[in-house]
Amino acid sequence: MSGNDGNNAERAVVMTPPRQVARRAARPRIAALLSPDRFAATVNPRLDLLHTYPFEKLRELTHGVRPPEGLAPISLGIGEPRHPTPPFIRQALIDHLDGLAVYPATLGTPELRRACADWAGRRYGIALDPQTQVLPVNGSREALFAIAQTVVDAARGEATVVCPNPFYQIYEGAALLAGARTHFAAVDPARNFAVDWDGVPESVWRRTQLVYVCSPGNPTGAVMPLDEWARLFELSDRHGFVIASDECYSEIWFGDAAPLGGLEAAARLDRGDFRRLVMFTSLSKRSNVPGLRSGFVAGDAQLLAAFARYRTYHGSAMGPAVQAASVAAWSDEAHVAANRALYREKFAAVLPILRPVMDVRLPDAGFYLWAPTPGDDAAFARGLLEKYNVTVLPGSYLAREQDGVNPGRGRVRMALVAPVDECVEAAQRIAAYCAEQPDHR
Ligand SMILES: Cc1ncc(COP(=O)(O)O)c(C=O)c1O
Repeated sequence: MSGNDGNNAERAVVMTPPRQVARRAARPRIAALLSPDRFAATVNPRLDLLHTYPFEKLRELTHGVRPPEGLAPISLGIGEPRHPTPPFIRQALIDHLDGLAVYPATLGTPELRRACADWAGRRYGIALDPQTQVLPVNGSREALFAIAQTVVDAARGEATVVCPNPFYQIYEGAALLAGARTHFAAVDPARNFAVDWDGVPESVWRRTQLVYVCSPGNPTGAVMPLDEWARLFELSDRHGFVIASDECYSEIWFGDAAPLGGLEAAARLDRGDFRRLVMFTSLSKRSNVPGLRSGFVAGDAQLLAAFARYRTYHGSAMGPAVQAASVAAWSDEAHVAANRALYREKFAAVLPILRPVMDVRLPDAGFYLWAPTPGDDAAFARGLLEKYNVTVLPGSYLAREQDGVNPGRGRVRMALVAPVDECVEAAQRIAAYCAEQPDHR
């Protein structure tokens, strides 16, 4: 896939350089909400580059839809873990409420940094220095956003951030607010949804400052293999860009071996200094604590020093009780294995129901099915809700059009986050709905 320069409206917005954006400040949507006009100049005009979030689009799509009253609603739409939080994590939080009386440090406690480094050591066989190569973050989302603000130098020629396509929308927003333009590298369904790094033109690589990797991928579930890491490291060495490796689904996997991590790949390829590489991981999915807001980043010490500096000013220190609960969570693996077993049970139950009607397969990892739809994905999602009260997310909402192709079109993302029996019920309804479609296989 080549660049996202072209003439469709969406692309034109994404590619608009910051200076032109500033000139358009008189008519942005956000500014327009602020009345009187004199307030408009106080708003960052880059805010208007942000795209509507997929769930807002879904709300618009399904506005006015009246599902049958006799069928209980089932949502496979939002990728929010719904298994219960392990009691020992809740208890650790309660036991450390005294910490609320002190300001936490941006770097976190030595205990937390040690627990994170130890976990990474056990999980990936790497030795991280907890002083310089680990930094706690309030969930991976804020950190994935913040890294672009730390890395991107918007004043340096056409700063570009490369994202996979489809992708987690925070990458794009982070790039645009940092003053960069985006380039989307499409995944290839024929190669287990591997990102087509080789399809990114050399001219784009030359101005690239940051690349987001999502492995295991949302929504595809694909894990990036070692040879692709080698290729990306080689490109990073040649062009000097930073790699932000989003690995928040790494603990939910289905094969014989746990997914390869970015830092693990670097260590295997004799890049133990993790130069220009930072990994983002999270307790949200691993430990069923999306509300805790806890994760950590690890990798290149020089980069993390700059990141810590940025974070000090941004004010992103983690609360002490959350830090203590995080130490407990990172130090235990039994609850993670139990959590994984539940997801395995769901996929094992759901796939045989869907396979006769949809070309779905077990992903490498994660909790999504990235399923092709008979016909248009948005129409499919709307119709499914209307007839069977099941919510799924249209794939085109998770990707950007490039060269006239939206790689999410004709697919839906189904998050198997509900309890097993609900997922099975949803699969049965989806199978019935598919069988009713004129062009189902
Ligand atoms: C790909 C991806 N990265 C990061 C996140 C953020 O997760 P958290 O901030 O809870 O760590 C999500 C959340 O759904 C995600 O899907």
